[in-house]
Amino acid sequence: MPDLLTLPPSVIAIDGPAASGKSTVGENLAGRLGFLYFDTGAMYRAVTHAALTRGTPIDDAAAMAVLANALDIDILPATVPDGRQYTVVVDGDDVTWAMRSAEVDAHVSAVSAIAPVREAMVRQQRRVADKGRVVMVGRDIGTVVFPEAPLKVYLDASPEERARRRYRELLDRRQPADYEAILENVRLRDAVDSEREASPLRAAPDAVPINTEGLSVEEVVAVIVQLAGQRLGLALQPE
Ligand code: DC
Repeated sequence: MPDLLTLPPSVIAIDGPAASGKSTVGENLAGRLGFLYFDTGAMYRAVTHAALTRGTPIDDAAAMAVLANALDIDILPATVPDGRQYTVVVDGDDVTWAMRSAEVDAHVSAVSAIAPVREAMVRQQRRVADKGRVVMVGRDIGTVVFPEAPLKVYLDASPEERARRRYRELLDRRQPADYEAILENVRLRDAVDSEREASPLRAAPDAVPINTEGLSVEEVVAVIVQLAGQRLGLALQPE
């Protein structure tokens, strides 16, 4: 039996546009494989939330870089049973729900387009993976953060389908939801995320594309579990 600690880190990279199902699929997949689940979008949201609350001008790249490097962002297992996937603590404050606000949604793509902010986040993301087996979810995991990942998946669905999912999620959480506004935000974020110069959203050439439209979470996870078995040489228990 190889010693787990001597094995190189095994990263499963899951990328795709906003609301393509990455976080639900990523969390389920990690649970199924016994891997750590790490949502890198939370880091860009945490920086955006901090900039908005502290009054750091988002169009000032130098000030944003200072902020991103100074923040102490911790992503922990969920500390409150209120439907959260994990808890995000920034400089001691729990911002898990605050960083999901419409205001953060409206600014996070601009923040994540700032190259020095990305560099600070990517450094931390690589450190997380040093610890071992991780399902890492984002936009640039397969292209920039871990181009050597043994398994990369690119999830996608139409903007309308993704907006419908976000809309239902908000209703489930009893939050106000406006489908047309969500669709517009999804389209806008797609454009900014894929047209930015720094690490634009795109599938790595060797990523496995999965269109999640019409597929259940379980079906998508089953496909990836099978790929993980082959690519990472995992001996998996049948479900
Ligand atoms: O996955 P999400 O919607 O929580 O991500 C929030 C924003 O962060 C998204 O608009 C793009 C950005 N992001 C990124 O640029 N790179 C990542 N690896 C993850 C997220």
